[in-house]
Amino acid sequence: MQIDLKVNGAVHKLEVEPDTPLLWVLREQLGLTGTKFGCGIGACGACTVHLYGTAVRSCILPVAAAAAAEVTTIEGLSHPLQEAWIAEQVPQCGYCQSGQLMAAAALLRAKPEPTDQDIDQSMTNLCRCATYPRIRQGIQRAARALITAAQSPEDQQQSTTGTDMAAPSATDQQ
Ligand code: FES
Ligand code: FES
Repeated sequence: MQIDLKVNGAVHKLEVEPDTPLLWVLREQLGLTGTKFGCGIGACGACTVHLYGTAVRSCILPVAAAAAAEVTTIEGLSHPLQEAWIAEQVPQCGYCQSGQLMAAAALLRAKPEPTDQDIDQSMTNLCRCATYPRIRQGIQRAARALITAAQSPEDQQQSTTGTDMAAPSATDQQ
């Protein structure tokens, strides 16, 4: 089957079996290896990417289901979370962190001022290094940065809007 897959703003024409997990297409056909394989059964979140800004687990998503969508991977994410992750020294081994960042970006998009309880409930990605307290701090730091930027028109223009690079407009989704 030939499909057009839009990833990080670029359209790729691919010949794939429609039930191939999106994760394998991203990693093996497109070389986007920032998205990781962990469990392969949708349990760990290492493979988290965005479809229209919503977090999905690409190891269990058939590529055909993403064919008409905007896919964003960690390589296409531009978000205050990334600076917050560095400032809070969140990663340990780092393996889970691209998935954590994608999940956190989707959380802040849905809930710009999450409580710690919101974070604990929403962030179901696993981390074997147990970086959960720093993940929480990183999300809170990024949330504060986004709120500060929203209060300053100049900063707001400097693209700290916390959206995916490839986030669609309302008309894109029609
Ligand atoms: S590799 Fe996809 S959820 Fe674990
Ligand atoms: S930082 Fe090592 S698994 Fe999360």
